[in-house]
Amino acid sequence: MMIPKVRKAVFPAAGLGTRFLPATKAQPKEMLPLVDKPLIQYGVEEAIHSGIQNIIVVTGRGKSSIEDHFDVSFELEQLLESKGKSELLSMVRAISDMIDISYVRQKEALGLGHAVHRAKELVGNEPFAAILSDDVISSETPCVRQLLDVYEYYGASVLALMEVPKEQISAYGVVDAEQVGDNGVGNRLFRIRNMVEKPRPADAPSNLAIIGRYILTPEIFHCVESIEPGSGGEIQLTDALKYMLRNRPIYGLKFEGTRYDAGDKLGFLKATVEFALNRHDLGESFRAYLKNLCIQ
Ligand code: UTP
Repeated sequence: MMIPKVRKAVFPAAGLGTRFLPATKAQPKEMLPLVDKPLIQYGVEEAIHSGIQNIIVVTGRGKSSIEDHFDVSFELEQLLESKGKSELLSMVRAISDMIDISYVRQKEALGLGHAVHRAKELVGNEPFAAILSDDVISSETPCVRQLLDVYEYYGASVLALMEVPKEQISAYGVVDAEQVGDNGVGNRLFRIRNMVEKPRPADAPSNLAIIGRYILTPEIFHCVESIEPGSGGEIQLTDALKYMLRNRPIYGLKFEGTRYDAGDKLGFLKATVEFALNRHDLGESFRAYLKNLCIQ
């Protein structure tokens, strides 16, 4: 059987970002910059480096700056050109030239499953990646590429998994999974048996949490339509995946790399410091500054 190629990535970006108030009152969380680049641009670059050709962003009210960011900025380009700032000009142009992006609205933040379902018409009957841009991942091979390698072998949905300490497990969707042996990715591949959204630590089936990268087969849309609101009264993607498990296999990959929860204040600060330290233009002086801080 031919396994259809993944060409599209969906970026749900219609959440309210309440963990980052007040910054997210009038500005989308996806536009918060890590050093100098908005979170969503890291995700878009990861998709491009994984071979994705089309991007669909699910936006909500107050999210127009996301569209402006990836659009041509005529006045800015003219100004940079007239001032002879050619490096900045090509950087700004590169963002709007990056990839073809379409937008669809989620009028109410009814949950991640609901947000993904809003992309149904634009995705059509083909597999796609879903990327939550507040999970920023630094890795040698882009995380989406790692998941695609598994997808291209099995032709089934694949989720990115990460080990999480027990006291934090209630913030995640958690899987019950069995290891798949002998697959060329060490002991990092699992076949998922069950999953539960935001379990109490005592009820968590494992310490393996689902993080914001998915390869989904198009049956997911029907699965979202078939479930009721779950944890927090939201239409949860985890519940739709659990429904899908009734008649489709789903795989999970413990990806290689470091994930930062940039939708959370502490996670965002950690990512900012580490990304700044790794920058060629800033790293050295920032390191010197940090060394001089007398942190007790
Ligand atoms: P989060 O769980 O981070 O929710 O959503 P949130 O509402 O954005 O932020 P907090 O928890 O209130 O601080 C994970 C991803 O799903 C998207 C968000 O934009 C984020 O990328 N999402 C969530 C939607 O697009 N729609 C929703 O209804 C819910």
